[in-house]
Amino acid sequence: MSEDHLLRLEPDTDGIAAAAAILASGGLVSFPTETVYGLGADARDDTAVAGIYAAKGRPSFNPLIVHLPSLEAAEKYCEFDPSALQLAGAFWPGALTLVLPLRADAGLSKLVTAGLDTVAVRVPDHPVARELLAAFGGPVAAPSANLSGRVSPTTVAHVIAGLDGKINAVVDGGACQVGVESTIVSCVGQPALLRAGGIPAEALEACLGQPLLLPTDPSTPTAPGQLVSHYAPQGKVRLNATKAGAGEVLLGFGPVDAALNLSPSGDLVEAAARLFACLHQLDAMNARAIAVSPIPDHGLGRAINDRLRRAAAPRT
Ligand code: TXA
Ligand code: MG
Repeated sequence: MSEDHLLRLEPDTDGIAAAAAILASGGLVSFPTETVYGLGADARDDTAVAGIYAAKGRPSFNPLIVHLPSLEAAEKYCEFDPSALQLAGAFWPGALTLVLPLRADAGLSKLVTAGLDTVAVRVPDHPVARELLAAFGGPVAAPSANLSGRVSPTTVAHVIAGLDGKINAVVDGGACQVGVESTIVSCVGQPALLRAGGIPAEALEACLGQPLLLPTDPSTPTAPGQLVSHYAPQGKVRLNATKAGAGEVLLGFGPVDAALNLSPSGDLVEAAARLFACLHQLDAMNARAIAVSPIPDHGLGRAINDRLRRAAAPRT
């Protein structure tokens, strides 16, 4: 993101206001939660969210958790069934993430949900996270604030070691108390454990009065990480195409004559920001066969190519 050192902000009124202003202007701010430090961006801003992937060097687009100040705020973005309400009532604020059906009018970046029709939401319990969410007043997408493939950070020093020069700021909130990521439960249909984490599954089961489906259970719909393969456009996809063949719609990159273009100027951040919106648009256009321009395989191009390769893989 930036060549400069990141700003280290104090967790006081001024520091939180500065962090909220950076988020509002599309920047990247790391902030403490009770589990681990998150790397936050405005969840409605495609370019800011693309910046998260660029900073982390993630080679794929995993959907991100949206952080909100309250259950009421979360209800603007997704649908809560009775189980979800029960869990949120008992464990929020806290180390529980719920995967829920996305509302049609949610207005979140498609990059946050990786184009899925569900969204992961969490109300964190750390006072600094809560103050930042209140000051910003919008949804904050945040994966753990580490480089891809490294362990999650639980102190400011960890965040700086990994991301200095790549993000705008970090708010210092001391060491994270829980130290492992949130537990993820899907409440799309029967409640299912997608990731073990800060809140033990037993406590969730006691609250629900029923066992959770486990990731290994064949009826558990999706597991984090593999999810991304669940959204592919309807049309057949051909990669590294210099132009569209007969009956194909060209999804372009760079200065090519294309029906849709990820980034006419060849900017990988812009292309990432537009990727899922373009894939959805190809469906809306009823594109039966899609040709995609070559995308350079570095930086965000790696994640874009990973996604496109999955879309082009034979369907089962
Ligand atoms: O404790 C935490 O959860 C931390 C702090 C910062 O809140 N965040 C975190 O985010 O661990 P991350 O990006 O490292 O992990 C998010 C997980 C991924 O495994 C992703 O696949 C899953 O959440 N996820 C996100 N959206 C999903 C969805 N719609 N369906 C299923 N899984 C989803
Ligand atoms: Mg992580």
